[in-house]
Amino acid sequence: MKALILVGGYGTRLRPLTFSCPKPCVEFANKPILEHQLAALVKVGVTDVVLAIAYQPEAMHELQSKLSAKYNINIICSQETTPLGTAGPIAAARHILQPNPDEKTYFFVLNSDVICDYPFQEMIDFHKAHGKQGTLVVTPVDDPSKYGVVVSSEQHEILSFVEKPKKFISNKINAGLYLFTSTVLDRIENKPTSIEREIFPIMAKDRELCSLTLKGFWMDIGQPKDFLAGLELYLNFLSTKSPESLIKGSKYLGDVLIDESAIIEDGCLIGPNVCIGPGVKIESGTRIASSVILAGSTIGAHSWIRGSIIGWRCRIGRWVRIEGLTVLGENVQVKDEVCFNEIIVLPHKEVKESEMVKGKILL
Ligand code: GTP
Repeated sequence: MKALILVGGYGTRLRPLTFSCPKPCVEFANKPILEHQLAALVKVGVTDVVLAIAYQPEAMHELQSKLSAKYNINIICSQETTPLGTAGPIAAARHILQPNPDEKTYFFVLNSDVICDYPFQEMIDFHKAHGKQGTLVVTPVDDPSKYGVVVSSEQHEILSFVEKPKKFISNKINAGLYLFTSTVLDRIENKPTSIEREIFPIMAKDRELCSLTLKGFWMDIGQPKDFLAGLELYLNFLSTKSPESLIKGSKYLGDVLIDESAIIEDGCLIGPNVCIGPGVKIESGTRIASSVILAGSTIGAHSWIRGSIIGWRCRIGRWVRIEGLTVLGENVQVKDEVCFNEIIVLPHKEVKESEMVKGKILL
């Protein structure tokens, strides 16, 4: 089995983190987002993975060699000179996905920012059983009127895609995980093309696309709010607890994931739904809830971090209060006693004053 992962988006909604590296390299639960998918693909026997890259190739190449050695698989980068959208990259990698044009192959195509309990084996079994060209995983949502929904027959054949339906027609949306038979390649050209808007509707008309409903949790973690919501779902799913070695003078609540190399001083209260990366130092008496602290950052004593993301190698002073979906880019320095509520801070910035105008971006 082979797979192609679409890693070529600009990731604008996850800025300022994606100013420092492409979205698939950002760590989710202490592993690059891409690694979650790779690890699950390897489990079902995938041996060759194509990374469809459109920009920031250096960072992707570094991750490619690291993960290829770690999982002992062949990872090939397919570099686009102009972004080819979500379908064009599949045609561009045709020679890898189907090396012998006379031989039928099967391959996965994945969006790079989806977190779930990947149902890859179920997809293989379902795809082989229905025998059509494509399988598209769908996931139920609470408010379908905000999304493009997928309408399927009782036999799971996709009949249509309806954008933001006013009346209830389906509550299933595209989960960004596909499995194709190589005959699908005859439908796609090597030019900028959207799989969702230009390929899937025609496949549905030809009754060549079936839907598989995801049973567990799902989240597109491509923006800060969903990144944190996805972390909560993921940690709940794993039922993570802090390493015993850390439980000394601090308290932990609910699900927390803390890298073994992090230092948590005495008198802190951490959790629920917190992820602390490698090399992070949390000084004494600090409270952290529903937040991510990325690698190498220091949080000063008696600070309060809630519902926020602290980027790599930040230095947060003492008695600092950060909340309300604040996101700090890489290497931000925050002085003692500063307060942030719903603030975005771009990388390499030094902040000396509090900023309480919600939604403000500090350049
Ligand atoms: P935003 O800029 O925040 O919308 O993020 P994004 O650029 O990742 O866009 P979106 O989440 O809609 O993209 C869905 C998937 O397709 C992601 O995995 C992207 O990396 C990928 N993608 C989007 N455009 C391209 C492209 O032109 N080429 C490649 N190779 N992948 C793409």
